[in-house]
Amino acid sequence: MKQVTQVSQLKQEIADARANGKRIAFVPTMGALHDGHLSLVDQVRTEENFVVASIFVNPLQFNDPSDYENYPQSLGVDARLLSDRGVDVLFLPEPETVYPEQPNLITPEQIETNVSLGLEGEHRPGHFSGVLTVVSRLFDLITPDIAAFGKKDAQQLALIRSLVSHQLASGRRMPLKIIAGETIRDDHGLALSSRNARLDSEQLEIARTINVALASCDGKADVEAAIGEAKSLLSDEIKLDYLEIVDPATFEPVSGDYEGSAIALFAGYVGQVRLIDNREISIKGS
Ligand code: PAF
Repeated sequence: MKQVTQVSQLKQEIADARANGKRIAFVPTMGALHDGHLSLVDQVRTEENFVVASIFVNPLQFNDPSDYENYPQSLGVDARLLSDRGVDVLFLPEPETVYPEQPNLITPEQIETNVSLGLEGEHRPGHFSGVLTVVSRLFDLITPDIAAFGKKDAQQLALIRSLVSHQLASGRRMPLKIIAGETIRDDHGLALSSRNARLDSEQLEIARTINVALASCDGKADVEAAIGEAKSLLSDEIKLDYLEIVDPATFEPVSGDYEGSAIALFAGYVGQVRLIDNREISIKGS
């Protein structure tokens, strides 16, 4: 695996791979890697693909400065994990490489979707503009044919899909396939997250009630009752931002008589650490 920091080196590696008939598969990350990230690499690593991973802690997507300052970093370990997993190039840009000029923020409104209005969009103002801006910028630099994102960030994934459709329709981007990776959980059901590294053993126990709460929503007939029961299963130590059941197409809360596929989503604090999780569920209808 080659580690590159400069755009010129990156472009050369990509041009060589294309000249060898390879497709470019991209796995963007912010580092502090876990099996969720590595499973994305596994999903795109094939004979035909040249795999580029990036580690860039994107300052634009942190609405809370202390979250940015405390974001876990483990570059040496990450590089070894990616190399062992068969990544071809690891792109490690500095902020001025990603943003040589003041970035023109891409807002979710620009891509004409309401998916960003609630949940993370409401609780983390500016977060999705930062995510869409960095993802679009990295796509411009890497020009991938395929890019992989985890389902743990379900709303982010939906917005990135919308961004790509929008950019394809306007001729702004070449065809690009977005691949979704399943959420990977520990033996107790806790969704793997880079932020879990900041939890002590007691906090890990507390965080493990999140999955129990979300899973309890599956197969229920009444949405409000399902949310009430799920909240009661969360540890009292959790400071809840939201626990909602939404329509997977719109990310808008579903009403009492809803029937069909849905997503139960959680965000909240365990100590100082903000965690999110979600489960694809079905609501049976009354
Ligand atoms: O999901 C993440 O880790 C980040 O939001 C991403 C997609 C790498 C953009 O910084």
